[in-house]
Amino acid sequence: MHKTRSTQYAVRSTKKIITRQMVVTAGPTQEPIDRVRFISNPSTGEMGVEIAREAARRGWSVTLILGPTPIAVPRGLRVIRVRTAREMRGAVLRAVKTARVLVMTAAVSDWRPARAVRGKMKRSAGPGLLRLVENPDILNSIPKRGGGRLWRVGFCLESGDFKREARRKLRDKKLDFIVANRLGRNGGPFGQKPVTVWILDRLGRSEWVRHAAKRKIARVVLNRLHGAMAE
Ligand code: CTP
Repeated sequence: MHKTRSTQYAVRSTKKIITRQMVVTAGPTQEPIDRVRFISNPSTGEMGVEIAREAARRGWSVTLILGPTPIAVPRGLRVIRVRTAREMRGAVLRAVKTARVLVMTAAVSDWRPARAVRGKMKRSAGPGLLRLVENPDILNSIPKRGGGRLWRVGFCLESGDFKREARRKLRDKKLDFIVANRLGRNGGPFGQKPVTVWILDRLGRSEWVRHAAKRKIARVVLNRLHGAMAE
């Protein structure tokens, strides 16, 4: 068990915060266009599942909030399945009330169709126009709370100036850590392939983890988090 000074502080400051409770989101969201079609992305949830598995191994009580993905989930985790960004937001807001850490690996759809068609859209209706509205930002929806603070870890995938974007997201989403993936020519960090990430913390410290399995990335992220919580 990694008992740290800050977790002891949380025990004193509020009884409600469960000091070893971690919420992890993973996978894509799906935003329905009609009963059978949706907007989504190729996220598989592997990264979040690895974080959840490693956290559970280290004694955390983990709630995994999982978007639609067929991957296997390790036993012993509390899993809440969701489909849309709004469902994920509701599940996160409920789960973080008593948690110490939130790790958002989920690839949340930025937009959703303004209105989902009830049945199946007919080809004869024409391609039409899909009116999209913005989804809520889950990290930015979490209310400030008294007592023990919530540690926040975000992930991002960038195709442009990824360091600048990672710094901006770390600041704007009030993260303690951000794990940045770069979208190269290899089609993105989806699935089981090894990935290269740049981890940045809120004090500006950063490191590269190169060509590593997601299980290894999960270990590094949790080592850094435990280290920061003990500082
Ligand atoms: N995230 C979130 N709510 C959203 C979208 C993203 O909480 N609606 C979280 C992700 O889970 C991730 C972090 O924010 O941990 C960064 O995700 P990203 O999609 O890069 O953020 P966006 O704000 O959508 O950035 P962009 O302007 O690049 O679309």
